[in-house]
Amino acid sequence: MCGIIGYAGCRPAVPVVTEGLHRLEYRGYDSAGVAFVRDRSFCVIRAKGRLSALEEKLAAVQTATSTCAMGHTRWATHGVPAERNAHPHCSNDNSLAIVHNGIIENFQELKAELAEKGYVFHSETDTEVLVNLIAECRKDEPELLRAFAAALRRAHGAYAVCLMERNAPDTFYAARMSAPLIFGVGTGENFAASDIPAFLHYTRKVIFLDDGDIVQATAKEYNMFRLEDLEPVAHEPQTVLWDMQAAQKSGYKHYMLKEIFEQPRVMTEALAGRISEQGDTVLLPELDNLPAPARLYIVACGTSWHSALWGRHLLEDWARVPVQVELASEFRHRDNFLFKKDEMVLVISQSGETADTLAALRIAKERGATVIGLCNVIGSSIAREAAAVLYTRAGPEISVASTKAMCSQMLMLALLALYWQARRHNPDESSRCPPRRQWISALVSLPPMLGDALSAMHETARRLSRKYAQARNFFYLGRGHCFPLALEGALKLKELSYIHAEGYAAGEMKHGPIALIDSAFPTFAIALDDPLFPKTKSNIMEVQARQGKVIALTNGETDLAADDVWTIPRLPSPLAGFVVLPALQLFSYEMADYLGKDVDQPRNLAKSVTVE
Ligand code: G6P
Repeated sequence: MCGIIGYAGCRPAVPVVTEGLHRLEYRGYDSAGVAFVRDRSFCVIRAKGRLSALEEKLAAVQTATSTCAMGHTRWATHGVPAERNAHPHCSNDNSLAIVHNGIIENFQELKAELAEKGYVFHSETDTEVLVNLIAECRKDEPELLRAFAAALRRAHGAYAVCLMERNAPDTFYAARMSAPLIFGVGTGENFAASDIPAFLHYTRKVIFLDDGDIVQATAKEYNMFRLEDLEPVAHEPQTVLWDMQAAQKSGYKHYMLKEIFEQPRVMTEALAGRISEQGDTVLLPELDNLPAPARLYIVACGTSWHSALWGRHLLEDWARVPVQVELASEFRHRDNFLFKKDEMVLVISQSGETADTLAALRIAKERGATVIGLCNVIGSSIAREAAAVLYTRAGPEISVASTKAMCSQMLMLALLALYWQARRHNPDESSRCPPRRQWISALVSLPPMLGDALSAMHETARRLSRKYAQARNFFYLGRGHCFPLALEGALKLKELSYIHAEGYAAGEMKHGPIALIDSAFPTFAIALDDPLFPKTKSNIMEVQARQGKVIALTNGETDLAADDVWTIPRLPSPLAGFVVLPALQLFSYEMADYLGKDVDQPRNLAKSVTVE
């Protein structure tokens, strides 16, 4: 999704802004641009494609004298990726320039109104409408802050925007509504950006802006107001504890590989302080004031949805909480959810900003549900709006394809199941619930075990990827708790290597998909040594009987006769998922890298999907 940055300070602003845009690249983009004032007029440089194209253009421009600027990486929503649609956009009279992340839903209506007044538009974007609307509002409100607020009050939808004025070249304005925007408080310089890494090099003091906040900033000061009435608001800056090192590649070829290898550490972090000294109780004090639910709805998108599907098995088996898992984009448009008092909603989101998940949270709250959030990004919208939040502590995830975040979500869901198992303790059921202490100790032993196994798994993934790189299609099969992992394996392969892949419940294969199988359509089967093994084994044989090649991922002394048997370390199910997951991730990573794809920023994808 788009990334924005605004800067006012003492340094040459354009290099600060372009560096910030590099740090926002992970969000996904197809064009980029910067704006600053030079010789009393706006200098707007924009380019389609990667930031290098923008930098090439900037190299030919005199930028050194400007100490205030703003920049943008665009992920197309309204209008094709093209220079004319790239931000910043200027008002017709060139007095204002704007960058925007989000969607102005009523932009057609506003555009028609402005066109009638004689405004002309050079792009297909909603953003160009917004900047002209501000110019129009200024006819009644000469003070820019007031005109900006008046225009935003008329704009429906989601936005994070930065605005600059030709006649006040050292000031930038910023505002937020349902799209991420963080203010960075420096010494003699101030920033606003879509994410903290954009300015972390310069300051760790941040303010998480609220929806409806509007800011006016220069190098020396900043003032924050409420959009609705321009009453001042005071936010205390918070200090970010992680540093750029945590958000850089540390010698790995790609962020994705680094993040896969970080998973043992991520699990250790997630466990820290969450197990009692006696080792028999899970501590989640964030939830102590909320009763354990009689029924849980989990709502999420993408990889987080797969975590939810996996976690359902543990929550039902261990905590005996019935769970319904919903895609946020579907859930938010269904009217039939009315929550009972003892029901609860859990929203899962790495970024905490996914538009559909955030909307689902708000709808669930409106309908009376207690909503808890499982998020990675501290201070994100979902984290702030949920009644309680559990942080996954995975650290910044830069690669667009999610890896370590899923591992941390799975771990937190396992802890949540054990936590609620204790809270719901029902003597009739306790004999059916597996012993907590045993699972807690298995969880604690996971990180070193995975740490020892990853390099060998990486080697196997590399070998197999070379063997199967010609495939244009892939099935991923799994049963029980391995079915969500099969879905995730297929998602990773398609998003990274653009090979068509489908995840299926192994038992469903014979209800249609098996018709596709031939010698060029391989299957990646997750066949762990557990009670479901004989059934998955039969499904593998059915595929082989149709000349389908099979990679079988297993963890025991199984008698599988697959084309390739990939044996991973043994763990009791369902915790075996913590080893299955990196195997799937490494296979997709190696496949994409071997095929020469852009591993960290796959085409058309965005890290944080802040539009519907
Ligand atoms: C995008 C990302 C996925 C992610 C999904 C949900 O599609 O590319 O990796 O799983 O959004 O994101 P969230 O931040 O809500 O977990």
